[in-house]
Amino acid sequence: MSGFRADWLMLREPADRAARSQRLIAMAGRDLAAFAAPEVCDLGAGTGAGMRAFAPHFPASTRWTLVDNAPALLAQIRAPGVTRRVGDLAANPALWPATCRLVTATALFDLAAAGWLDRLAAALSAARLPLLSCLTYDGHIGLVPQHPFDVAMIAAFNDHQKTDKGLGGPAAGPDAHRRLVALLAAHGYRVEEAETPWRLDGVRDAELIRAVLEGWAEAAVGRCGVTAGKAAAWLAARLGATDQLVIGHRDLYARPSGT
Ligand SMILES: C[S@@+](CC[C@H](N)C(=O)[O-])C[C@H]1O[C@@H](n2cnc3c(N)ncnc32)[C@H](O)[C@@H]1O
Repeated sequence: MSGFRADWLMLREPADRAARSQRLIAMAGRDLAAFAAPEVCDLGAGTGAGMRAFAPHFPASTRWTLVDNAPALLAQIRAPGVTRRVGDLAANPALWPATCRLVTATALFDLAAAGWLDRLAAALSAARLPLLSCLTYDGHIGLVPQHPFDVAMIAAFNDHQKTDKGLGGPAAGPDAHRRLVALLAAHGYRVEEAETPWRLDGVRDAELIRAVLEGWAEAAVGRCGVTAGKAAAWLAARLGATDQLVIGHRDLYARPSGT
């Protein structure tokens, strides 16, 4: 069962699209152009936002396999000719087809346990597959104007990010990107990275900011000394006055040696 709702994934899609590293996506697209009708597999695909963002930069002949454990999310994907695969990545990170040329993922790896990332890197390396990973949360949050409770709320939220999210045990959370880079490098991969924060504006992105803040307030209660009362007071203040919200993410494009 997935805890992710289609309306949340749709709400965040424009901010994700704006933040993704165009440089890394273009690199992956250039490498794919070496193949006739390359197969790409998106892990934790949800409603297909990754495919929609990558497809314009990949060869028109690209064939897609979208993997998720939530059939209701995959069912929202309207693109013709796409293979939807319902599967539990916790049991097996390597749910890509044998003919796959590139594995992609968006906003997935911070949900994963350190040991799961080890298994993913080993499986990618064994198959000599490149990986394009977008929007792994890196723990950095900036809020303008500041509020006296921000530090405690952010600490509590980041603590919650390290709870079990159904991908192999307690999640690596903000450490996931760094760990994945180190693992892939140890397997001989050449890894390109980019900082890809959301830069949200209080007016333009009001709906997304509200959803983010409400989620944080709920997640923070009972952690790092945050009481329900403190979280509610912070949320009320924040909803009334958040001009800017920056949320740190990292992208990577990793290629096995000799490719
Ligand atoms: C943060 S959402 C991102 C979805 C999509 N990549 C996007 O950018 O809109 C994480 C996705 O991973 C999927 N997921 C989480 N745990 C999973 C598991 N164990 N097996 C397969 N998919 C999983 C969820 O169902 C969800 O669609």
